[in-house]
Amino acid sequence: MTDSLKLEILITKEEIASEVARLAQEISRDYQGKHPLLLGILKGSFVFMADLIRLLEIPVEIDFVSLSSYGSARLTSGNIKVVQGLRSQVKGRDVLVIEDIVDTGLTVGYFLDYLKKRKPSSLKLCAIFDKPSQRQIPVPIDYRGITVPNKFVVGYGLDYNEQFRHLSDLCVVED
Ligand code: IMP
Ligand code: MG
Repeated sequence: MTDSLKLEILITKEEIASEVARLAQEISRDYQGKHPLLLGILKGSFVFMADLIRLLEIPVEIDFVSLSSYGSARLTSGNIKVVQGLRSQVKGRDVLVIEDIVDTGLTVGYFLDYLKKRKPSSLKLCAIFDKPSQRQIPVPIDYRGITVPNKFVVGYGLDYNEQFRHLSDLCVVED
């Protein structure tokens, strides 16, 4: 149940907006003359993706993927993911992965390896939030937004049991 949860604003929508604008400027500058493919990881990245692309000054293509864990006792790790929904050709493209938050790094780390095998001409990562305290594998974040403390956060696309994705501010969930 989500009724008894208290939310506290951690990062305001204004702070997020100025960070998104900064990232859009950097990306527009670095990809000048190129036509990158932006790959968003669902569901969390959809709000950030929508804000980011409207501030870019370069032409882009976008696609979204879902990553799901097998979560089976038969496998050695519950962190193995399956990529669903990738329709775009990755080979030879300048690919920029768009993520909501990098926490342990396992999700996006897996996806970057998956993409590398498909031979993009370049591969970079952009994440609006970074929670470095929980990192289990090193993940290079080429465009890093706001660093958050080791707390569970919701809003701006991020959920708790599929709730709170619609909030404009990033909030901490308190029990
Ligand atoms: P990682 O594999 O541990 O880096 O987890 C990445 C994914 O877990 C993110 O794309 C989010 O969907 C989710 N996640 C990690 N931390 C949070 C959080 O604080 N709030 C909501 N979702 C989170
Ligand atoms: Mg996500």
